[in-house]
Amino acid sequence: MRFQDKVVVVTGAAGGIGLAAVRRFASEGARILAVDLEGSSLDAAAAEAHSFGTEVFTHAADCSLADDVSGYVDRCVREFGRCDVLFNNAGIEGLIMNLTEYPEEDFDRVISVNLRGVWLGMKYAAPAMFASGGGSIVNTASTAGLIGARGLSAYVASKHGVVGLTKSAALELVPQGVRVNAVCPSPIETRMMRSLEEGFGGDQAEMIRKDLASRNPMGRYGEPEEVAALVAFLASDDASYINGGIYTVDGGSTGGR
Ligand SMILES: NC(=O)c1ccc[n+]([C@@H]2O[C@H](COP(=O)([O-])OP(=O)(O)OC[C@H]3O[C@@H](n4cnc5c(N)ncnc54)[C@H](O)[C@@H]3O)[C@@H](O)[C@H]2O)c1
Repeated sequence: MRFQDKVVVVTGAAGGIGLAAVRRFASEGARILAVDLEGSSLDAAAAEAHSFGTEVFTHAADCSLADDVSGYVDRCVREFGRCDVLFNNAGIEGLIMNLTEYPEEDFDRVISVNLRGVWLGMKYAAPAMFASGGGSIVNTASTAGLIGARGLSAYVASKHGVVGLTKSAALELVPQGVRVNAVCPSPIETRMMRSLEEGFGGDQAEMIRKDLASRNPMGRYGEPEEVAALVAFLASDDASYINGGIYTVDGGSTGGR
């Protein structure tokens, strides 16, 4: 019960990794604000939290918009009186296309959600954490934040940016008690991988999936719960001396061939 008496915000809470994180935080006693885009189904996140008997509010926000981000932080403080943890997780994969063909507006949208959204989350949540003596932020980067990938230039650039933001934020925020770390998952069994398999493989998506799984040193994709376990550790006091760290949860896929 590492999050008893703690308040946790999860963005992208209607998605695969976000939902698993809500379940994990709730199972350890957290009170939760589950954030995702207007129209996304946050019912599952609310049901998960309720099943552990914890208090949960759902909140529609676009993480790339400053007013929406300050709005979810304000809502958190209004409902719970504090904000201890931010899992800054909302993200999109964008298009699969060579960079010479990539439309400007799609490039901008990926950077706006994945990079600006993570920055805005820290910008507005950190002061709320300072007010209650500190906290912890975990940003979702990706193995695409560590290595390149053909056809995914905007996504790769955004996730490399998240790694850089995490390192800088960790230096700036820790004097006021806020630790900042990032997780680098891939490939994880969620909608996003289904989309990438289809994007790369078309009607051969299942073949792409098998190929990606077989090339992973563990011979499989990861489960969202395996990411959530790392996120919960980094967010908890068990990680009290861990700050500015960039942690892979990828079956060893970035370790070499
Ligand atoms: N699945 C993987 O293999 C993998 C690997 C590395 C990193 N990631 C990262 O993990 C995070 C979660 O992805 P997932 O795999 O759970 O995918 P997902 O598509 O299941 O979940 C992403 C969630 O983010 C939400 N979202 C998108 N744009 C938003 C916005 N502007 N404002 C608020 N919410 C928004 C979506 O509605 C969705 O619920 C993402 O940042 C993704 O880049 C995923």
